[in-house]
Amino acid sequence: MLRGLSGDVSVCDSPDGLAEAAAARIQRASADACAARGSFSIALAGGSTPRTLYTLLSRPPFRAAIEWPLWDVFFGDERAVAPDDTSSNYRMARETLLDAVAIDPARVHRMPGDMPDLDLGADEYAIKLHGDLPEGPGHAPRLDCVLLGLGTNGHTASLFPHTHALEVQDRWVTRGRADEAPYDRLTLTYPAINAAALVMFLVAGEPKREALKATASGATPAARVRLVDGELLWLLDADAAGTD
Ligand code: 6PG
Repeated sequence: MLRGLSGDVSVCDSPDGLAEAAAARIQRASADACAARGSFSIALAGGSTPRTLYTLLSRPPFRAAIEWPLWDVFFGDERAVAPDDTSSNYRMARETLLDAVAIDPARVHRMPGDMPDLDLGADEYAIKLHGDLPEGPGHAPRLDCVLLGLGTNGHTASLFPHTHALEVQDRWVTRGRADEAPYDRLTLTYPAINAAALVMFLVAGEPKREALKATASGATPAARVRLVDGELLWLLDADAAGTD
């Protein structure tokens, strides 16, 4: 059922195994980027799945193995809430990782979901991305790594089914409209995601099995993540993959 997924698929035995595999791949990508260019840019995902990964990265052995001061941290999407709101992706990342390691706070770039004018917020964040990152395919800002989750309806980042955000091809950031609260979002667009050097989907749990099948058949927003010149990796646990 997973043959239709674009990119490489790795099935781990558990959510903890998935987090370990993701952390090891991030460490390697960070080491390569820091050696090549002296920095590593990553867009963090929200939701519950990445929490385990972020906590793992904040502890030994990964804590001491990563050159945190060389990281530039961005976000793949954000809810339209204050940064200290319990549903903020920034708050979740801050509590599980950003406050626990030696990342330069000036190099953590929160998506301004709390701006009253979300369109203006999207444009400002796109300017930040463009100013801070090298140019990738389609003149898009090229992130070294983008982490993504998968919703049970096949959304990823805040690219939800049947919404305008899926059609945006001339911007790197746009408004999103979720079918679950908080409804208003900001999200990277497909051109920004597809320009990345590495995209990792983190998908755990039996409830995601149908969304994975639908994605493998091309029927979800997540299916439209197809890298122009990069590595796409699906990290699944056995429950999500349907393999025992
Ligand atoms: C968000 C995320 C979203 C998430 C999926 C999966 O802001 O909620 O960016 O795309 O990755 O909804 O969420 P879970 O990991 O909680 O299942």
